Amino acid sequence: MGASAASGWNRIARALHWGTALAVLVEVPAGFIMSWTYAARDAAGKANHILSSQIHHTLGMLLLIAVVFRIVWRLTHDRPSPPATSTRFEVVLAAAVQGMFYLLLLALPLSGWAALSSMAAGAGYPAPEMWFFGTDGFGPNGFIPHIVPPVAWNAPVLFKYGFFARVHIWGLWLGGGVLALHMAGALKQHFIARSDVLIRMWRGQA
Ligand code: HEM
Ligand code: HEM
Repeated sequence: MGASAASGWNRIARALHWGTALAVLVEVPAGFIMSWTYAARDAAGKANHILSSQIHHTLGMLLLIAVVFRIVWRLTHDRPSPPATSTRFEVVLAAAVQGMFYLLLLALPLSGWAALSSMAAGAGYPAPEMWFFGTDGFGPNGFIPHIVPPVAWNAPVLFKYGFFARVHIWGLWLGGGVLALHMAGALKQHFIARSDVLIRMWRGQA
């Protein structure tokens, strides 16, 4: 619900917030390692690729589940009011940044899932793998559906691997900018405005 009587973020909101932040901190380097080792031919490079893919896909899908739960939670619970010292501009900016995070936490895993879904095996390319808890969800008896139809990587259509991978990477850079703004806002509130905003997200009560 909107801003209201809640005096701090409760245990569930805080666990979701810091759990997500920690998961993103692992997800991003895992994504880069996975990308850098796609073409690895040596045993160590291949092992790193499989491990980073398993971590990236599993954690990414868990982040997707978590954000769906979190959106439902946020829509059905009150949030603490903005600090009295905030200007209208700061309140609107903070809300826009938080809204962007929700969009990105949906768009990043969905574009990654779509990128893998859209890849067809052939022309020297292997079938895509969708690791989820150490199992290839796209493999035989895989339980993860393709959310877009597979096409050849060079098919003359818009919605193919390259498109979804680009959305994924643009989302990533946008997310970096949004995170910088978000952290700057939180630190400004704590150290300059000296409000309770960081405390109420860290341990609940101001
Ligand atoms: C919040 C969740 C996610 C974040 C923050 C994230 C972040 C990243 C990062 C940092 C990269 C490396 C980008 C680069 O090489 O320049 C990447 C690549 C990739 N991710 Fe994710 N990812 C997320 C979720 C997922 C999920 C759920 C999947 C699939 C199930 C996925 C599939 C991919 C794929 C296929 C690539 C390679 C794209 C390429 O061709 O460069 N990602 N991701
Ligand atoms: C990827 C990392 C992060 C994401 C996705 C994220 C997302 C969010 C979202 C969506 C909210 C709104 C509250 C909610 O819906 O739970 C929020 C609040 C907050 N975040 Fe983050 N955050 C991240 C990292 C951080 C970091 C590193 C800090 C500290 C420097 C921080 C400090 C805060 C504070 C203090 C609030 C409370 C704002 C208020 O009470 O008005 N966040 N964050």
